[in-house]
Amino acid sequence: MKFRNLRTLLLLAFSGFLMVQCTSDPIPGPAGADGIDGIDGLDGVDGEDGTTSCVSCHSNAFREPIILAHSTSAHGSGETWGERGTRESCARCHNNEGFIDILSGLYVDSLGNSIVNPLGYSVGNVLNCNGCHANHRSLDFESDGNDKAVRSIIPVDLFIDPNLTIDFTNSSDEWGLSNLCINCHQPRNSYDIPGPTGDYEITSSRFGPHHSPQSSMLEGILGANISGPTPYPGVGSAAHREGSSCIACHMGPTTDGSDGGHTWHSTENACVQCHPNGAPTELTGFTTDFERLRQLLLAAGSIAADSSTVSGTYPANVAQATWNWRTLLEDQSRGTHNPGYTRALLDNSIDALEE
Ligand code: HEC
Ligand code: HEC
Ligand code: HEC
Ligand code: HEC
Ligand code: HEC
Ligand code: HEC
Repeated sequence: MKFRNLRTLLLLAFSGFLMVQCTSDPIPGPAGADGIDGIDGLDGVDGEDGTTSCVSCHSNAFREPIILAHSTSAHGSGETWGERGTRESCARCHNNEGFIDILSGLYVDSLGNSIVNPLGYSVGNVLNCNGCHANHRSLDFESDGNDKAVRSIIPVDLFIDPNLTIDFTNSSDEWGLSNLCINCHQPRNSYDIPGPTGDYEITSSRFGPHHSPQSSMLEGILGANISGPTPYPGVGSAAHREGSSCIACHMGPTTDGSDGGHTWHSTENACVQCHPNGAPTELTGFTTDFERLRQLLLAAGSIAADSSTVSGTYPANVAQATWNWRTLLEDQSRGTHNPGYTRALLDNSIDALEE
């Protein structure tokens, strides 16, 4: 219908044009009938044209400060991305390509056997934008939310025990973007956690959870839970676990450019909603009790003055307390990640050595 009317109009206009050529006194034809209404368009977002919402993140102006922050961060410039990134057993967490490969299943098979990229990892690479980001799962942000194109957000089965799975999705992190962090910030499966009975042989000066037990601390697991006077809080029950998250504390809005976002330094802005008078910088008494435990372990001979562990065979309580002390050392948050669990590990380790 609409097309016909349009054609009629065009023909009329054209014949009108011909008449201009042929006669000195053109006679206008009758007006055509109105066309039918078109279909309604989709509602726009108030005050925005179609790509404004994309440009708010995808402009160079928005990205430049992020690129700058990343370039000086531990992820963009740390020492461990070099030579360690080229080692087969380390590349999954210390090399951008190793990390992409492990998430793509190109690193270990379903049984955990190494199948490593046949090309190996001859070049060390820092953790880059494309290590942590890939594609949006949906571009319908209004209905589906915006996942910031984070590469992997699925809950993570831990290396040390694949039967243990952590999922940090909560109100502070609706998409579970912090699940990305667990892939690397978890203990490595290099040592068994000492049990409550029998002697235990420490075989290395680096005994303990490898450098990064932050996810398991936040969850409240993988310490050596020595029995003692202070009860262990329920798994996953810490206030910081339930109401906050890795990205909320470490990537929240910056105070002065030096923290939050892609610096990954924890930001005070993430604490004020729950600690309106300013957040404490450590678990009450942490420094004192951590030192007390250190003195007890020095006396037991399991650690040296430089914090490394001393190889040898130890009674269960010493091995467990040593694991706990190393865990709290490597966690590096002075009890903040999980105040209640840290308190129980400290008290019960000290109690077990003072008996
Ligand atoms: C809240 C921030 C944000 C918004 C809004 C956003 N994106 Fe993204 N998008 C990202 C991030 C972060 C990445 C991955 C890193 C990067 O490329 O900056 C990404 C990656 C992408 C990629 C894949 C990588 C690439 O650069 O080719 C595409 C395609 C994309 N976005 C399209 C869009 C489109 C289309 C819109 C609007 C409908 C949009 N994005 C809105 C944050 C956003
Ligand atoms: C591919 C593995 C990997 C992923 C994924 C990862 N990290 Fe890291 N992260 C590291 C390594 C390795 C270091 C130490 C780098 C160095 O100093 O050489 C580090 C360092 C850090 C630091 C220390 C900063 C400092 O200045 O000491 C923080 C905080 C941190 N990461 C938080 C996070 C958070 C939060 C996430 C998730 C959004 C995350 N990381 C994801 C591997 C990873
Ligand atoms: C499960 C992931 C993972 C694996 C596998 C892994 N690392 Fe790490 N490593 C990390 C993370 C995350 C950090 C950063 C921790 C932090 O800043 O608290 C780190 C930190 C380090 C550090 C710096 C420690 C410090 O106190 O400054 C060294 C050294 C290191 N790793 C060596 C290695 C070596 C060597 C291997 C292989 C034999 C290896 N890592 C395998 C995740 C891993
Ligand atoms: C360690 C992993 C990691 C690396 C490396 C990383 N990002 Fe991100 N990025 C994230 C996570 C997680 C978020 C979501 C943070 C949030 O929602 O609070 C994010 C958010 C973003 C956003 C959206 C910011 C906003 O305010 O909504 C942009 C844009 C972005 N990243 C770009 C980049 C660029 C560009 C690089 C490289 C220079 C980069 N990212 C490197 C993990 C990473
Ligand atoms: C309640 C807020 C909070 C949460 C949740 C949180 N962190 Fe932290 N984190 C901190 C604070 C505070 C420190 C100590 C910072 C300092 O001493 O400067 C810290 C320390 C660290 C460090 C040592 C390096 C540094 O920046 O000092 C790493 C690595 C780290 N956190 C990673 C993580 C990861 C990964 C997660 C999620 C599993 C996480 N954090 C969850 C607040 C938090
Ligand atoms: C969702 C609310 C919430 C947020 C966000 C939060 N906290 Fe907490 N925090 C608590 C609660 C509740 C407690 C006490 C209960 C507990 O220990 O789990 C606590 C306890 C602590 C403790 C132990 C205090 C003590 O006396 O032993 C420290 C340290 C701490 N928070 C630091 C921080 C820092 C630093 C931040 C921001 C980077 C932060 N918190 C963000 C709720 C929060």
